[in-house]
Amino acid sequence: MRVPLIAGNWKMNTTLSEATELVNKMLRELDGVENVDKVLCPPFISLAAVGELIKGSSIKLGAQNVYFEEKGAYTGEISPLMLADLCEFVIIGHSERRQYFNETGEIVNRKIVAALKAGLKPILCVGERLEENEAGRTEKVVTEQLNSSLAGVNSINGLTIAYEPVWAIGTGKAATGKQANETIGLIRRTISKLYGERIAQDLRILYGGSVTANNATEFMQQPDIDGALVGGASLKADQFLSIVNQTSEISQIK
Ligand code: PGA
Repeated sequence: MRVPLIAGNWKMNTTLSEATELVNKMLRELDGVENVDKVLCPPFISLAAVGELIKGSSIKLGAQNVYFEEKGAYTGEISPLMLADLCEFVIIGHSERRQYFNETGEIVNRKIVAALKAGLKPILCVGERLEENEAGRTEKVVTEQLNSSLAGVNSINGLTIAYEPVWAIGTGKAATGKQANETIGLIRRTISKLYGERIAQDLRILYGGSVTANNATEFMQQPDIDGALVGGASLKADQFLSIVNQTSEISQIK
């Protein structure tokens, strides 16, 4: 049985005081929701403060990015060791990083390797762009992203994958539950080929892209979808709580 996971990716939003306010708004209720792992991914500068606020609760902490070197002269970067001290999860290979910061498959791979080595739990993002989707290349693109991201990685213990079609991120145009489930099924089969069926069956694979309180149930009901990576809706306490609550209810009957 895979315990679902809902991660809130706050992206480049919230000042330190806004981050604190957002956590305080949902802390008690979020802490009480069972049968689902809840992860908050605030900006780097708020990690320590959010970490303090959620200490002793069932809520977990994640970062949105990491560099692959352990330490040294890399001005402005944050290493896996620094993060491992503060949080449990880290998002790697988000399409915004690939698109705006030129993160290649090789860079994503180095980040995955470094994060796992430091004991972090990576949330690896994959997903096709609109033109790739329209050209019927989803399967090829996603498989290639998985192969390059996981090159040389012998154990994926601790890994979560998020399928995020780029055309669905921040656009309000979510995939349908059925579409997302199909591609996530493909991802699971690819992982099975690489690591074996048991590991593939244990792996959590999330959907991400315009998930809201209005469509969360549709995704969570799908057999292969194990949760969501939520952007915009994670910045609103009531929306995020609703998504987490819906996931919890469905996980008990799934
Ligand atoms: P969105 O973002 O929910 O705002 O579409 C999802 C993501 O980028 O992880």
